[in-house]
Amino acid sequence: MSDWSADQYLKFEDERTRPTRDLIAQIPLARAQRVVDLGCGPGNSTELLIARYPQAEVLGVDSSPDMLRQARQRLPKCEFVAADLTAWTAPQRTDLLFANAVFQWVPDHPAVLRRLIAGLRPGGVLAVQMPDNTDEPALALMREVASRGPWAKSASVNHAARDELPRPAAYYDLLGPLAGRLDIWHTIYNHVMPGPEAIVEWFKGSALRPFLAALDPAMGSDFLAAYLEEIKEHYRPRHDGKVLLPFPRLFIVAVR
Ligand SMILES: C[S@@+](CC[C@H](N)C(=O)[O-])C[C@H]1O[C@@H](n2cnc3c(N)ncnc32)[C@H](O)[C@@H]1O
Repeated sequence: MSDWSADQYLKFEDERTRPTRDLIAQIPLARAQRVVDLGCGPGNSTELLIARYPQAEVLGVDSSPDMLRQARQRLPKCEFVAADLTAWTAPQRTDLLFANAVFQWVPDHPAVLRRLIAGLRPGGVLAVQMPDNTDEPALALMREVASRGPWAKSASVNHAARDELPRPAAYYDLLGPLAGRLDIWHTIYNHVMPGPEAIVEWFKGSALRPFLAALDPAMGSDFLAAYLEEIKEHYRPRHDGKVLLPFPRLFIVAVR
């Protein structure tokens, strides 16, 4: 797939960083010496981890060259490494593995989460947030638009949708045996968007990427136009002309 675009992702930096703040607030570690930001992206989550643990050695890990470039520019004193989380292992004596909005992209992520928590020292923390929005109209409409139109027979378009996340009980059974304490919750944000076009812009930075990567530029524009028409139907203007984007997210804090 084509690389992530840090600029596209950061168009909604405030909204995208809000779950990082909420996740950090629930980490039961007063101090930490070694912290890793998994899927650090452009460094927005890394910056908040440095602020929360100013004495810690903080490492950012990501597989995207564009995201790493932006992260290094933003936080020149911090260490960033390129790696794929499917095979990455944590440095010894890591206190906190933090992962905001990345594991939904990692194939067979439950097995990876299990491996990562198993490698933590007792008292070490794995803190994860993933969008749990595959049933939301915005994502259902991507699948719907993909199923019709000239691209409908393309296997890569048909496989571009993200899988539904396992339910909280499945994570509880998976991670619970390795965790002294496990906290799992959902938050539904209601992001205020200037209009339906902004919803399309938002997802161009995330869930639409695999669809667009499977299409040539002309087809990609047609796909986006068809998607926007559907979004306009399903996300109606509020009293001030703005639209609300409800966004459910799943949070997990596991203490080894
Ligand atoms: C949605 S961004 C999250 C950025 C940041 N953590 C935040 O809180 O906004 C997801 C990041 O995960 C990275 N990513 C996706 N799959 C990955 C993998 N298998 N290994 C490493 N990084 C991955 C992407 O490159 C991207 O930078």
